[in-house]
Amino acid sequence: MESGTWASYVAAWLATVALILLSTHLRRRRKLNLPPGPKPWPIIGNLNLIGALPHRSIHELSQKYGPIMQLRFGSFPVVVGSSVAMAKLFLKTHDVTFASRPKTAAGKYTTYNYSDITWSPYGPYWRQARKMCLMELFSARRLESYEYIRVEETKSLLSSLYKQSNSPVDLKDHLSTVSLNVISRMVLGKKYLDENVEGSIVTPEEFKKMLDELFLLSGVLNIGDSIPWIDFLDLQGYVKRMKVLSKKFDRFLEHVLDEHNARRKGVENYVAKDMVDVLLQFADDPTLEVKLERHGVKAFTQDLIAGGTESSAVTVEWAISELLRKPELFDKATEELDRVIGKERWVEEKDIPNLPYLDTIVKETMRMHPVAPMLVPRFSREDIKIADYDIPKDTRVLVNVWTIGRDPEIWDQPNEFIPERFIGKNIDVKGQDFELLPFGTGRRMCPGYSLGLKVIQSSLANLLHGFKWKLPGDMKPGDLSMEEIFGLSTPKKIPLVAMAEPRLPAHLYDM
Ligand code: HEM
Repeated sequence: MESGTWASYVAAWLATVALILLSTHLRRRRKLNLPPGPKPWPIIGNLNLIGALPHRSIHELSQKYGPIMQLRFGSFPVVVGSSVAMAKLFLKTHDVTFASRPKTAAGKYTTYNYSDITWSPYGPYWRQARKMCLMELFSARRLESYEYIRVEETKSLLSSLYKQSNSPVDLKDHLSTVSLNVISRMVLGKKYLDENVEGSIVTPEEFKKMLDELFLLSGVLNIGDSIPWIDFLDLQGYVKRMKVLSKKFDRFLEHVLDEHNARRKGVENYVAKDMVDVLLQFADDPTLEVKLERHGVKAFTQDLIAGGTESSAVTVEWAISELLRKPELFDKATEELDRVIGKERWVEEKDIPNLPYLDTIVKETMRMHPVAPMLVPRFSREDIKIADYDIPKDTRVLVNVWTIGRDPEIWDQPNEFIPERFIGKNIDVKGQDFELLPFGTGRRMCPGYSLGLKVIQSSLANLLHGFKWKLPGDMKPGDLSMEEIFGLSTPKKIPLVAMAEPRLPAHLYDM
């Protein structure tokens, strides 16, 4: 055959293959019935539509495209559910299909290559981790055994506020000290961060900054996660920050593990004194289905400290801020506290079930300010049909609980803080009622929810019982900024500064 004939033969053959491939691709695309959504741009997809507060941008889009919509973040499809019905389909009916997490730079660099609980993909390692949480770390018995720690730390918060009575205080700073101390003592066995305690290698201020940075970096939209081929450019500088942060955490965690191992060494039938001890015992267990390595113990420990510290402080700060905007609600709360508790003692955990108005304040705060407004992203493990739409395997899934919390079909005046809306309603925050899911629900639901709730309820109850709260100077309720910052948690952009005036007899603050 002549070379010209060969060339036309090869060209014809290539064209046929290309046509077959194209038509298969088109047939497949035509066959897929994807959820509605805005038209994506090449390369960036719909990232141009996402602002600094992604839950709000996505909320706006869902008002246009409906309760199930498809976006593209760079080259990745992202499906968003924004109604009770969709939350039920994603997190209950088909929970197991969506029980994985997408791989992100945050998971890779800040959690020992997805070795923690939050970012580990669905599989035996993660299932084993959840079993450890359920049976050991967060069992009702263990949480109860640590009640004395929560009591001591709450008292220390109240007495430090008393010392600063009637002068402006940064409330979240005080609150995160309490939750950090509570969680450090439960997880690590002591306040590693207390400068006065032997073994402290990071100051509390530095550590709180590390936690704020961890939450921010775990929630940010890192461009490289959406457009992998420009990942190496690290355009926003987030990956560099993640690497710096993980080194700081590692130095701290190495120190904690060394100390714990030294304490256990050579002691027969050692009884675990804190959660790190429990994890190290799991790491020694040869019968575990999946070996828990040293980096796994460090990753779990970091998860517990991070999960336990930031979220409760953020929620209580929002609660007091909302109340300061509607001072008349303070009177209702204190009327209940004075009636049920009286003025001669502090609120204890066992009193919480007798404080229904306080409960409505906590629920209303979590409705309007869910700590994770779109939960933590899920990831589909197989092709599936949801509400007649095709959701292919490897799709990222967000459930916008912020939108559900502000849905006018469910809530009257959804943008108003009205705790009374929960009176007489059987709606709880524990994953059964899909209109209120601050802790998520299903297999990936927050394993620390009962601890988180205990800390929130008892610190808020005592803040309201012990003090009359005011804004500083001549600031008016309407002047208080309610802006947010987006990250894995959504704290106030401008921290609340308020003044506390004692309302109980002086001797009660002498603790
Ligand atoms: C106000 C308190 C808290 C709130 C609002 C909260 C909220 C959440 C949310 C929304 C999720 C994701 C659920 C999902 O993907 O569907 C989550 C997961 C998680 N939370 Fe919490 N949390 C709180 C307290 C805690 C505490 C006290 C701890 C531990 C000490 C903790 C540890 C975790 C962990 C390890 C996960 C990952 C679970 C997994 O992926 O399997 N959280 N939390």
